[in-house]
Amino acid sequence: MTELLDTHKIIAHTTPALRAQLPQLLTFNELPSTNDYLLKHAAHFAHNTVACFAEQQTAGRGRLGRAWVSPYAANIYLSLLWHFSLTINQLAGLNMVIGISIIETIQSITTAPDLMLKWPNDVYWRDKKLAGILIDLAGESNGVSSTVIGIGINVNMPDSAADDINKPWVDLHTITAKTISRNQLAGVLVERLLINLQQFQKHGTSEFCEKWKALDYLFGKQISISTATNSISGIAQGINEQGQLLLLTTSSVITPISAGEASVLLL
Ligand code: BTN
Repeated sequence: MTELLDTHKIIAHTTPALRAQLPQLLTFNELPSTNDYLLKHAAHFAHNTVACFAEQQTAGRGRLGRAWVSPYAANIYLSLLWHFSLTINQLAGLNMVIGISIIETIQSITTAPDLMLKWPNDVYWRDKKLAGILIDLAGESNGVSSTVIGIGINVNMPDSAADDINKPWVDLHTITAKTISRNQLAGVLVERLLINLQQFQKHGTSEFCEKWKALDYLFGKQISISTATNSISGIAQGINEQGQLLLLTTSSVITPISAGEASVLLL
């Protein structure tokens, strides 16, 4: 039987420590996009932390203007409204924190092996995408940056929806051959995100940068990074504490790259 998302069941999968500082936790049957919902209502939620789940998104958004395939009662579509007492520039590296939080969550409730992070924002399993992250800025004033952190995790992607995904992908059911409780995944994920975001806010990215090294999908690979205007290729050398990818180019210079789409070149 399909397990639907349920606020009480999600909370039941958090620890008492988290419950003491629980964010507002909303579950919707359907939204155009959980990120867009929180962006639209950010002012209404003032400085509260809000976690917003939907069973289905009719206009789920991915990075670079792409659609995020979001069929009903199948996967996790989560957005978290989070307010940092940091400026936008100090948020560099937030992508690492979120990616690591997703992997730590999955590792704590499954035995899924070989999970990796593909810079800047993807969780991979053996050359296939398992989860994606979309970070939107909801506003900035007086040194407080309000962000909407969107996370999509493929859990049980139905074949009918999969036809619309045009890149190699995988879901947790395929990796683990087990039924995953989405309520458990949701509760553990919110908890892990809150712990790691507080850690990032207090101590910055160094701990996450260290963890990234063990999970770096691109490290040592010949890759090409494309942006809207150009493309550059080289060998991936890891990332720095600002979350920039370090690329060793043909001119033997290591160039830090802040944004772009990375593709592995088959030699
Ligand atoms: C990507 O890899 O391109 C990012 C995908 C992000 C998808 C999530 S699902 C929840 C949230 N709401 C959205 O519309 N997008 C993000």
